[in-house]
Amino acid sequence: MRVHRLVNPFSIFKPTPEPVWSEVFSNLDLPLELEIGTGQGNFFIEKAKARPGFNHLGFEIRYKLVDHVNELAKKSHLNNALVLYGNAWLCRETVFKHHKVNNIYIFFPDPWEKDRHQKRRLIHTDFLEVLFEILKPGGKIYVQTDVKELSLEIKGHFAQKPLFTPLQTDYYPEAPWRSEFQDLMSNREREAYQNNLPIYRLVYQKPVV
Ligand SMILES: C[S@@+](CC[C@H](N)C(=O)[O-])C[C@H]1O[C@@H](n2cnc3c(N)ncnc32)[C@H](O)[C@@H]1O
Repeated sequence: MRVHRLVNPFSIFKPTPEPVWSEVFSNLDLPLELEIGTGQGNFFIEKAKARPGFNHLGFEIRYKLVDHVNELAKKSHLNNALVLYGNAWLCRETVFKHHKVNNIYIFFPDPWEKDRHQKRRLIHTDFLEVLFEILKPGGKIYVQTDVKELSLEIKGHFAQKPLFTPLQTDYYPEAPWRSEFQDLMSNREREAYQNNLPIYRLVYQKPVV
């Protein structure tokens, strides 16, 4: 499958419409988890299998990967998992108008290394406001990256816009969620392991009150 290596998020400027939820998940009463930038979808699919008591929503701007991961969900007969094509920056008033999420996973966001491309990086302080609005109180944001500078930048954004309580902000050799999800890894995380790259893991929580 040929997939664009990188898509400029500014090329998608229309919000994804709110799905007809009853056509998406078979049990709408389940709590909702969100993964932003599902990529090839290994973590997304395996987590949906491992956590049948949750609905799992993904966002992805590479449409071929959206189709690919939704096809994998269908083959696995998952009725609690769907990836939406769309820019996660633009979803607050549509997709999340009526549904808030319990946890958010952002794994290996694109580093956009060139100076003139850095505005394309997923996490910035305005986006933290979006995440705050769509997350339920007590909900967590899990971020991991193998790019140290990016992890420092992301930490800086969270410090500048202190909406969330930092739970884990240092280099962390093992994923804090691993005990629950066993050895589930995103595709990029597995590559990082295989190449002995350090992984910087950050966890933030929306305060309960
Ligand atoms: C480096 S890949 C990581 C994929 C996967 N999380 C993993 O760990 O293997 C980052 C993904 O985020 C997606 N992405 C980037 N900006 C996005 C945005 N604004 N909204 C939704 N997805 C985005 C990209 O298309 C890409 O698939």
